[in-house]
Amino acid sequence: MKKSRVILDKDFVIGKVDDRLFGSFIEHLGRAVYGGIYEPDHATADEKGFRGDVIELVKELNVDIVRYPGGNFVSGYNWEDGVGPKELRPRKLELAWRTVETNQVGTDDFVDWCNKVGTKPMLAVNLGTRGPDEARNLVEYCNHKSGSYYSDMRIKNGYKEPHGIKLWCLGNEMDGPWQIGMKTAEEYGRIAVETAKVMKWVDPSIELVACGSSGSGMATFPQWEATILEHTYDYVDYVSLHTYYGNRDGDTPNYLARTLDMDNFIKKVIAVCDYVKAKKRGKKNINLSFDEWNVWYHSNEQDNKLEPWTIAPPQLEDIYNFEDAVLVGLMLITLLNNSDRVKIACLAQLVNVIAPIITENGGAAWRQTIFYPFMHASNYGRGIALNPIIQSDKYDSKEFTDVPYLDTAVVLSEDGEDLTIFAVNRSVDDSMLMECELRSFPGFVLKEALTLANDDKNAVNDKLNPNRVVPVKFEQIEFKDNKLTAKLPKMSWNVIRLNKNN
Ligand code: AHR
Repeated sequence: MKKSRVILDKDFVIGKVDDRLFGSFIEHLGRAVYGGIYEPDHATADEKGFRGDVIELVKELNVDIVRYPGGNFVSGYNWEDGVGPKELRPRKLELAWRTVETNQVGTDDFVDWCNKVGTKPMLAVNLGTRGPDEARNLVEYCNHKSGSYYSDMRIKNGYKEPHGIKLWCLGNEMDGPWQIGMKTAEEYGRIAVETAKVMKWVDPSIELVACGSSGSGMATFPQWEATILEHTYDYVDYVSLHTYYGNRDGDTPNYLARTLDMDNFIKKVIAVCDYVKAKKRGKKNINLSFDEWNVWYHSNEQDNKLEPWTIAPPQLEDIYNFEDAVLVGLMLITLLNNSDRVKIACLAQLVNVIAPIITENGGAAWRQTIFYPFMHASNYGRGIALNPIIQSDKYDSKEFTDVPYLDTAVVLSEDGEDLTIFAVNRSVDDSMLMECELRSFPGFVLKEALTLANDDKNAVNDKLNPNRVVPVKFEQIEFKDNKLTAKLPKMSWNVIRLNKNN
């Protein structure tokens, strides 16, 4: 059995967890929009064509923000195509994913969907084929009250009140050769600052995210961040990070160690942000928006076989297994443990496309394995992140050394009444004895303990068996004299909830 020891104290504070850490992403890609959130002929569709079964599942995830409309899609998108009467909206070739875009869903429709779900939009503007002019027009359309060309256009389209969109991305992955209108760091820095300026002149209350590198493996990382932030420092609030992992060679211990890489990536980006702040003699911190993160590899092969120029083909439909859920849990732990600087994060994506929710066109919708860690973190991980002091047995894997078998994040609710411990046992063979010393929580009692464990790392949820991988109550746990002792199953995601016994 593996062993670990954790010391928790309410004075060991990382920082307040921003609610936007529990964000997600809907791109005009595959069946995310058409057949995902929108399917007017579906039995559960509302009067606007949104699937009711999907809305209910998204509500369970308690998603705080949803990034839209891309992704790579945004770099060729004309937002004007997606507003106004649906019958007049053009069908266009969509070059990022080689499909036909019908524009039956656009900005106003997406805002309607967000309102129905109880979430907020995070909009991206096109800095691939377009620039400051179209971006400032979109801010005017969305956020200006009335009495101008674009705000009056919104009113004419049936939206009297402004949408009041507060968070905006300045393009997407602009360093990537796959991006429509890819740019050098100098080119992007210049267009991003000029776009940021006019967007904030239209609405000074908005916050802006500049594109960081599309991955830490890019040859231009981290010089890209330094250059673009030197241009944009005065006008932007966040820089973006994107990461996807996969277990292509079936090496699970190495796969589960990948969050050491994610943590390292975050720390490097923070260092660059602080370097630029120092160089600028700046006062504000640039914080981090991890606005694409997930597992993505299962669907790569089948995507290569898809015919181009069809409408909403089944692209990027990863079917997630149990070990993916454990890695997603570890990624959530990494985000929480860096929540002093990572203020925004988006699980990419939300429905059908590398997503926790899968649908059938005209049929059922169900929860993938990765649904559960996100649901737990989003519902119980809000408040103040505490810094757990961990001693754990360790292992070496193909790419990583000194990987602790235990990883954990701990969150105390703002009223100080609820304490949640998220814990992963990375061992693929052994259970783990975890002893937690809870120094400063007198009067707390154990409320609930849940575990996501499975003997088959490849187990998936599908239409016939949607509940093969689900969390269950966890009994091997005791809390006495401020000491919590738990036996965590091998390779498992665990949620331990305590609260003040009033
Ligand atoms: O989320 C899928 C794609 O991954 C996004 O469109 C792009 O930004 C990233 O490369």
